[in-house]
Amino acid sequence: GFVVGTAVAGGGHHEDMPYPDPFPNDRKYRHLVAKEFSSVSPENQMKWEFIHPEPDVYDFGPADAIVKFAAQHDQQVRGHTLMWHSQNPEWLEQGDYTPEELRTILRDHIKTVVGRYAGQIDQWDVANEIFDGSGNLRTSENIWIRELGPGIIADAFRWTHEADPDALLFFNDYGVESINAKSDAYYRLVQELKADGVPVDGFSVQGHLSTRYGFPGDLQANLERFDALGLETAVTELDVRMDLPNDAEPTPEQEAVQASYYQRFLQACLAVENCDSFTLWGFTDKYSWVPVFFPDEGSATVMTEEFERKPAYDSLLETL
Ligand code: XIL
Repeated sequence: GFVVGTAVAGGGHHEDMPYPDPFPNDRKYRHLVAKEFSSVSPENQMKWEFIHPEPDVYDFGPADAIVKFAAQHDQQVRGHTLMWHSQNPEWLEQGDYTPEELRTILRDHIKTVVGRYAGQIDQWDVANEIFDGSGNLRTSENIWIRELGPGIIADAFRWTHEADPDALLFFNDYGVESINAKSDAYYRLVQELKADGVPVDGFSVQGHLSTRYGFPGDLQANLERFDALGLETAVTELDVRMDLPNDAEPTPEQEAVQASYYQRFLQACLAVENCDSFTLWGFTDKYSWVPVFFPDEGSATVMTEEFERKPAYDSLLETL
C-alpha cells in the first residue's frame, strides 16, 4: 500500500508557471510519470487561480487531464489544495464580499471541485500552510481565516468530507518536518478538531529541504507523534535543493549529501506505520520550481534536465 508520487507540472499556461506546459507535450516526461510513480499531485492545476479563475468560471481541463492520466495508469491522486493564502484569483482576494458571501463561495468551491473528482482523489490537502513559523494562524494573509475566523477550518474539512466521504483529508505545510513551534501548533489543533468530531485524517509534511539548513533529524519522531493521534501521515512535496551560485554544476559531494537527505526522508516515512504516501515535488530539474523561487539554488530533484538519474534516485530505489 505504499505509494511513491510526483507533482505533475504544467496543465495550463499561466503567469505563475515558471516553464512551458510540459504535461500534454513532453512525451518522455509523460512516460516517466507513468512508469516511475504510483501517485500524482497536480502541482498547480487544482489551485484556486487555475481551477476557479472567475467568480462563475471553473477551468477543469488541466486537472481533468491529470485525473484521467492517473486512472489510465492505475495511480492515486493527491488533491492540492482547497484553503490557502497563496495563488488565489484576484476576483477573490480583491473582491468586496461580506463574510456571509465568502462562506458561500468557499462552500460552493469545495462542493464543486471535490464533488467533481469524488471517488478519484485519495487524499486532499484541505488546508495548506495555515500557520506561520511561530505557530500562529496566518490570520492576516489567509482570506478565509481573516474574514471568517478560525472556525472556518473545521467547516472546510466537513464540507470536503461531505463532498467525498472516501478521500483522506489533510493538513499540509512546510517547515513542519521537525518538532517545532509550527508542528506543535498542528499537533494541538488536530487534537481539538478530532475531539470535536471534525473529519481530519492526516498531517503531511511538504519536505522542501535545502542542504543549507541541514536534515530534520527528528522527522521520524515528529511523524510518530501524529501517527499516535490516529492520523495518517504523508510526505507530499519533497525536494532537496543545493547552493549553485552562478549556474555552477553540482559536485559529487553535493550530490552525495542530497542523496542521503532523500534516503533518510524515505526511511523515516517507511518506519512510521501509517506514512503510506511519499511524493516528490517533481522528479526532473527540467520542470522544477526551485531555481525560479530560490536564487542560486537548484538541482533539487532526482533526475537531471535530460532525465538522467542522480545518486538521489538510486538512494530511493535502494531503500524501497
Ligand atoms: C509551487 C509550484 O511548484 C510553482 O509552480 C508555483 O508557481 C508556486 O507554487 N508549497 C506548496 C506548493 O504547497 O503548492 C508550492 O508549489 C510549493 C510550496
